[in-house]
Amino acid sequence: MSAPLRLGIAGLGTVGIGVVKIVRQKAALLTERTGRPVVITAVSARTRDKDRGVNLASYDWEDDPVKLATRDDVDVFVELMGGSDGPAKAATEAAIAAGKDVVTANKAMLATHGQDLALAAEAAGRVIRFEAAVAGGIPVIKALLEGLAANEITRVMGVMNGTCNYILTRMQDAGLPYDDVFAEADALGFLEADPELDVGGIDAGHKLAVLSSIAFGTKVDFAGVELEGIQRISIEDIQQAEDLGYRIKLLGVAQMTGRGLEQRMSPCLVPAESPLGQLTGGTNMVVIEGDAVEQVVLRGPGAGEGPTASAVMGDICDIARGIRIPTFGAPATGLRAAKAAKSNSPAPFYLRLTLKDRPGALAKVATVLGDHGISIDRMRQTRHNDENAPVLIVTHKTQRTALDSAIAAMQDTGVMAGVPVALRIEAV
Ligand code: HSE
Repeated sequence: MSAPLRLGIAGLGTVGIGVVKIVRQKAALLTERTGRPVVITAVSARTRDKDRGVNLASYDWEDDPVKLATRDDVDVFVELMGGSDGPAKAATEAAIAAGKDVVTANKAMLATHGQDLALAAEAAGRVIRFEAAVAGGIPVIKALLEGLAANEITRVMGVMNGTCNYILTRMQDAGLPYDDVFAEADALGFLEADPELDVGGIDAGHKLAVLSSIAFGTKVDFAGVELEGIQRISIEDIQQAEDLGYRIKLLGVAQMTGRGLEQRMSPCLVPAESPLGQLTGGTNMVVIEGDAVEQVVLRGPGAGEGPTASAVMGDICDIARGIRIPTFGAPATGLRAAKAAKSNSPAPFYLRLTLKDRPGALAKVATVLGDHGISIDRMRQTRHNDENAPVLIVTHKTQRTALDSAIAAMQDTGVMAGVPVALRIEAV
């Protein structure tokens, strides 16, 4: 029997406790599958005196995660504290410098400092694994790193924030406005401590940036992700999209183009009957397209104790088995700088306008669209009141830049009565 793999776990929230439970409850299975026992030697968290529902008395306690990360009796530092900087980064750097492998669920840290951490780990001959950082229980990192390693990846896309998907699905199913469902999600504890991370698309943007690095062999470039959150999605848009045969999803898309790497995380319309359109609640889905494999669709729980701990344990099992892969697939020294390209590939757009209900108003906006080379596919006017007329337009394929110019020009027509909503319709 090989020597035990000794874990030091920093962060005893939902995921940390999930990991502790699996290590305790599945000791025999883990030994059988990896060929060596997996044990916890020490743990750390912000608060020691707290009932976490599991007995932690048999593990050493460290107040300072850096001390935990550098202990002689720790082989793998398991970072489950979160936060792009602060203690998580300090302890991860200390662990690498002390010759430990690292397993983390911290997408913010990887999206912000992934390249530097990868360089440090590789220089020290250590690995950083992070399956739990993207799409919870879905083994998407492993799929990209290993199973699809021989593919030229052409596109990665997906729904990677369960909270946003819950909010959008619940708005649709219950016919409730955004603010009501946001309050529900908050009461249910679904939102991150800073809700902007979820509803502003930042959490999902972090995940997309990490996936892009592996998929396209580029340095993680979170700054290159075009971000738009779901805060402006109204129940009216949800219902209008549904009437047209679409659902609104916070969709991430990354693709390498002749102009550079396009990465965008934004609310889009997808066909209601498509796999992405059918995705409900907190479930995540990632679609990977490669030249040889064509298309792979991975679907599963994006958060929660069991699914996220499952992903952390998958990484720990790989380390126990001696599987060692560079952080982002290719050695970090060889990753190319990502040349960020504004996503401008042509697509149909959903455009909701509120016009003053007066003769010629519609003609004016139609003329502006025509002047910008934008052709109308479908149009309708519904639910108007005495003063204003909501007008719904689905365009033929056009570029976002042309649409933005047209929307700006519409402000000079004198017929606009509200802020236009423009959402891309994504072919999936
Ligand atoms: N807030 C995240 C989500 C948790 O809703 O998907 C997992 O990253």
